[in-house]
Parts: sequence; C-alpha cells; structure tokens
Amino acid sequence: MWGLALDSVISADVVLANGTIAKASKTQNPDLFFAIRGAAGSFGIVVSTQVKTYAAPSSATIFNYNYNLNINAATTALANFQTYAVSNIPAQLGLEIVLSKGSSRGTVNFGVTGGWYGAANQLNVTLQPFLGPLGNPSWKTVTPGSYLDSAKNLAEGSLDTSNPLGQHDTFYAKSLVTPQSSPMSQTALKAFATYISNNGYDANVGWFLQIELFGGSNSAINVVATEDTAFGHRNSLFAMQLYAYSWDSNPPFPAVGFTFIDGVADSIVKNSPANWDYGAYEPYIDDRLANSEFLYYKTNLPKLKTLKAQFDPTGVFNSPTGIKP
Ligand SMILES: *[C@@H]1O[C@H](CO)[C@@H](O)[C@H](O)[C@H]1NC(C)=O
Ligand SMILES: *[C@@H]1O[C@H](CO)[C@@H](O)[C@H](O)[C@H]1NC(C)=O
Repeated sequence: MWGLALDSVISADVVLANGTIAKASKTQNPDLFFAIRGAAGSFGIVVSTQVKTYAAPSSATIFNYNYNLNINAATTALANFQTYAVSNIPAQLGLEIVLSKGSSRGTVNFGVTGGWYGAANQLNVTLQPFLGPLGNPSWKTVTPGSYLDSAKNLAEGSLDTSNPLGQHDTFYAKSLVTPQSSPMSQTALKAFATYISNNGYDANVGWFLQIELFGGSNSAINVVATEDTAFGHRNSLFAMQLYAYSWDSNPPFPAVGFTFIDGVADSIVKNSPANWDYGAYEPYIDDRLANSEFLYYKTNLPKLKTLKAQFDPTGVFNSPTGIKP
C-alpha cells in the first residue's frame, strides 16, 4: 500500500568512504540518493534518514489461513495465487504464501498470511476469490485491531527496540524475484510443488518458503520507475525467500540444507524458459549466488558500478554480495 520502506525516504545523511558526511536527497547529491535507496551497504553508512509519514489506517487486521495440500492441490493453489495477484485486488491487502513441511509425504503446508488495512468486515469478501476454492482451512487466525496492534503482532509482541528479543538462527536463504510479465508456468509450479512435498518432507533440516506479493494490480512498489532508485525489481510479481535452518537454531548448519534450498530454486528456474527474466532480492543475502550483482540490481547495475567507482573507488564498503567498482 505504501511501497517499499526505501520509497518513503526523503533524505539521508551518509558517511562516505573518504570520511566526509554528505546529504542525499532528490536535490542534493541525487546520484548518491539513488544509490543508497536499494544499495546503501555498498556506498556508505547512513546515520540518519528523514521519511515521509502517513496517517495510520483506522483498522488493521492480521490474518493467517492454513491448509495441508497434496501436490496437485498445491500446484493449483499456487497458479490461482498468481491469477488472484493480478486481478483487481485492493492496495490495502498485503499478502504472502508461507510453505512448510506437510503432515505426510506428498503434501505441503500451505499458509496464506498478511495484513488487511481496509474495513475489517471486508476481508472475507476480498480473500474469498482466492481462498474459497481451497475449502475449510485446517486452522486460521483473524485478528482485527488498531494499526499499532497490527505492528506489535507482526513484531511478535513488542515494538520496544531498546530490549531486543535476543533471537538468533543458523540458516541459509536464497531468493527468487519473479517477473510479472512472465508468470511461473504450470510445469514450473508442478515441479516446485512436487519437490517440496517429497524432498521437503524427507529433508533433515527445518525450512519454510515465503512467496511475497510485491507486484500485481495496485502495487505501490511497481508504480515507481526502475531508474528512480537502486532497487531493480519494479516489474516483479513475487519476491520469494527460500529458507532452511538447523533444528535447534545453533551451528553447525547441515550441508543438506544447501542441497535442499538449491533444489527448490532449481525446480522453478530449470523448468522456466532459458531467458526467464528472474532476479534475486538483495536483503536476502546469498553469498553462494552466482551472478549475484546482476540478479540483485538488474538494469540498474551499470549505473551503480559507475557510482561505486566514484564514491568508493578503493572498496571501503565491501561485502561478498556488494557492488564492485
Ligand atoms: C467468508 O464467510 C463465509 C460465510 O461465513 C465462509 O463460508 C467463508 O469460508 C469465509 N471466507 C473466508 C476467506 O474467510
Ligand atoms: C569525498 O568524496 C565525495 C564523493 O566522491 C567528494 O564529493 C568529496 O569532494 C570528497 N571529499 C574529500 C575531502 O576528498
């Protein structure tokens, strides 16, 4: 509804590689402003930001519907999700699919979760075209309340940043950003559903997969021009996170976790056209990803490399997945 967090940034103070502090905005250092909105880690240390604010919606509902589906039903539900995403759904609907290990081999747990910022009594009719065909969920929670309630809910109960929950994990994550102009094919979806229902049931590692709605009708993300910010995925439909973790969240990370997550990404990419215009989502850092610079920044990469040479020629801000001059 409000786009990416970076789309609300009006200006920032940035410590550059040579130690000077620069103001970045539309009118001051516009190239730096472009670069830090999507690739800040390669350009400097942002020490303050000024952001656009919005009136809180009068109602916010967090919802979670869960189904255990077999391979055919999961394939159909994923295809329906793609169709639903580009139908005229309201901007007030934030939505993702969360897939995890099924209750038996050949099935997968199919969760539909998100936030609804319209009138609470309109959620049912909004979701019905997608969820109706799935029948009764195995469980669901629908929690209407204030906007602040919804933020607390999504932050697992507390917004107190002075007292972090102390959570940690030992995990590996890949991502796939799917193009809206070329949705995942039936073949790719079937291969994906088959792999996660069988290999995902067998894999001796914890995992979940998120299919986050970025595009679709009324997407505030996709109305911004690609060349306005470093973020390179303004024509995407989904950002997918493919995530595996050690059972007790402590090291070591099991090698099977890499194999399984690679296989999930391959089940989609290798069953899509050779020229399929997919990408990867840079906040889901993947230092095993070949060609990560291009997959993260797409058509914005050439400009970002030129700016990297200008602002940080010696690579003070270097990371394995960062932009190289
Ligand atoms: C909407 O409400 C109807 C009637 O109570 C119910 O059968 C249906 O499952 C609901 N749909 C959703 C998506 O909650
Ligand atoms: C530091 O780098 C910026 C950006 O390249 C440049 O504009 C500025 O003149 C540099 N400052 C110094 C003191 O070298």
